Amino acid sequence: MTLLQVLVCALLSTSVSASFSANLNYRSPSLNHPDLGIAVHKVQKRNDPACPFNAEDLKFTHGVASGDPYPESVILWTRISPDDDNSHSNVTVSGLAPLYDHDNEKYVKISKAPVCVEYKVARDEGMKSVVDRGLAWTSSDVDYTVKVEASNLRPYTTYYYQFNVCGSSSVKSPVGRTKTTPRKGDKLHNDVGIAVYSCSNFPQGYFNAYGNAVRKDDVDYVIHLGDYFYEYANGGYGWGNELGRIPLPDKEIVSLYDYRKRYATYRTDLDLLDNHRVFPWISVWDDHEVADNIWKSGSSHMNNTEESFVHDGGISVDQRKAHAVRAHFEWMPLRQVDMDDNLRIWRNFEIGDLLDLIMLDTRVYDRSITDMYWNTDYIHDISNDQGRSLMGARQENWFYKQLINSKNRQAKWRVVGQQIIISGLDLSYGKATKNPNSMDAWDGYLANKNRTFNTIVENKIDNTVFLAGDSHASWVSDLVWEGHGKYDEKTGAGSIGVEFAGTAVSSPGPFANKTEAIATNGSTWLINNNPELQWQEAHYRGYYNLKIGYNKIVADFFGVPDIKTRNGLEIKLATFEVNDGENKLARDPAPGKAWGGALKNGQVEKGVVYDTAKTPKKVQQKEQHGQH
Ligand SMILES: *[C@@H]1O[C@H](CO)[C@@H](O)[C@H](O)[C@H]1NC(C)=O
Ligand SMILES: *[C@@H]1O[C@H](CO)[C@@H](O)[C@H](O)[C@H]1NC(C)=O
Ligand SMILES: *[C@@H]1O[C@H](CO)[C@@H](O)[C@H](O)[C@H]1NC(C)=O
Ligand SMILES: *[C@@H]1O[C@H](CO)[C@@H](O)[C@H](O)[C@H]1NC(C)=O
Ligand SMILES: *[C@@H]1O[C@H](CO)[C@@H](O)[C@H](O)[C@H]1NC(C)=O
Repeated sequence: MTLLQVLVCALLSTSVSASFSANLNYRSPSLNHPDLGIAVHKVQKRNDPACPFNAEDLKFTHGVASGDPYPESVILWTRISPDDDNSHSNVTVSGLAPLYDHDNEKYVKISKAPVCVEYKVARDEGMKSVVDRGLAWTSSDVDYTVKVEASNLRPYTTYYYQFNVCGSSSVKSPVGRTKTTPRKGDKLHNDVGIAVYSCSNFPQGYFNAYGNAVRKDDVDYVIHLGDYFYEYANGGYGWGNELGRIPLPDKEIVSLYDYRKRYATYRTDLDLLDNHRVFPWISVWDDHEVADNIWKSGSSHMNNTEESFVHDGGISVDQRKAHAVRAHFEWMPLRQVDMDDNLRIWRNFEIGDLLDLIMLDTRVYDRSITDMYWNTDYIHDISNDQGRSLMGARQENWFYKQLINSKNRQAKWRVVGQQIIISGLDLSYGKATKNPNSMDAWDGYLANKNRTFNTIVENKIDNTVFLAGDSHASWVSDLVWEGHGKYDEKTGAGSIGVEFAGTAVSSPGPFANKTEAIATNGSTWLINNNPELQWQEAHYRGYYNLKIGYNKIVADFFGVPDIKTRNGLEIKLATFEVNDGENKLARDPAPGKAWGGALKNGQVEKGVVYDTAKTPKKVQQKEQHGQH
């Protein structure tokens, strides 16, 4: 250490009051068992807090993000690093792997400078009326990510936030915007708007769908139902080379470094960055955040045998999961609900007296064996087995209790955010097959589905709305269960709720590379052969919006016509309503209106492509800005 450095260290006195534990990523994955997580005292020893990095050697590499809003607090995220690359220290649940010094052929003791970062939360975009602030450390141990909980906030209020390097007024992050939720039980005076996304595949195209919501600026929150990224190599899956969108590292990812690098690559898409900066997210993972068709102890590319250990990156399923999950918590603006259970992301948001948003994990937590392509017939044979579960007993019991509690507290709606389609759908397109249903969706787990529907019926729970992603196409259905008796597809009588399943941001659909007419032909077969399926569309990539009010929920589906360039083009594809207490899609006489795909009992009209970059923002939005 030079004399100059000593002087610099001593000058940075503001950093003294920063703490490692203020950065929530150091508490993950286990707070009470440091031996299972990061030992903060060891981090402190390695990263000498008396001598942090100089501000001018650092940059905010991946913008800002916020998420998991509560009435008085919200999670804020950023990454501040001396380096664009991710940390190569392959930390596992059992501690930190020593760095290998290849020049001197020996393991070296890691001794590095930490970064002190300050955050501020203000009522105004100019960051003048500051309501909360704090300091936290970050370091390579957590890939230089920062996750803090801003608190002392007012419910259902818009805030702005910004990070800077401690003591520096020049090294600052962009200003982000976020919004707290209403207090449990509060009566709301306007509808809650939510944009719902799933399945963004970087090499397959630009994430225009994320940007369109920013350009329109007409929702409060974003729900992401997973497949935020894909673990595959670029080769053989997409146009990455052509578009210059190669998902790094360009191989199937297995190590902690690999998963970090994949998040870092995806977070270079400008529309994704914008969406994170402007909207608070409530997200769950699907399978690809770990590996394709992941279940309790395997995935489609991994059997957890000695053979797969040797050939799939020298890693067991559990180790790979630990890496994937660790990187997920480092990079996503979400709360780790149970600090001693880092596989748990299932959680509930009580939003006023309007809704409970129940987020499930049907993939990673405790799922029984799924369809991995080579075992489809076997899964079909056991799909009605009483012992099978998508969620595991602990999560299932919690889920049913949430549904009942939500009814008991008289919340108007129960919105269930989860990954896979719950409606029992014949997907055979008329081809003779033993397995017309998806064995990787709820149909492969009939007992779990029955227990769910039984909870709804037995407890007379109204106003349940299931959301799903995963399938890369749009599906709107009444929620129908044989165990509840007869269903009338014309009137919707006998339905016990609704399901809105959305298409992908960019992942290819079942009719990829085919014309819209061929996709619509497929959609027509699907709605004609599935009584509860009221609308289906498979040509467009896109997303959907929910407008949730006391009298009804309106769902608007949007398609993005071109993802080979970055643009704001959009087409409205369909709109549906669910009236309070009806437990089915409203009919008048068709279940909705559509401008694409196939609609039951209704005429599909011609859609209009518009440019969200040119659509004027809502007047109300302008007024809010004028109040500062
Ligand atoms: C981390 O893991 C990756 C992949 O297994 C490996 O290539 C790299 O050398 C590891 N880094 C360290 C520091 O052990
Ligand atoms: C679509 O076509 C491209 C270019 O030929 C190819 O790389 C890609 O794999 C195809 N996608 C699908 C899902 O078939
Ligand atoms: C897993 O095991 C099954 C059954 O033996 C086999 O068909 C499949 O190829 C294996 N998968 C991998 C990735 O080794
Ligand atoms: C239309 O769909 C039916 C049913 O799946 C299929 O048999 C037929 O080949 C499709 N036609 C075209 C032109 O895709
Ligand atoms: C689930 O319910 C359906 C319809 O009532 C029934 O046919 C099936 O046997 C049930 N399966 C299980 C495992 O409970």
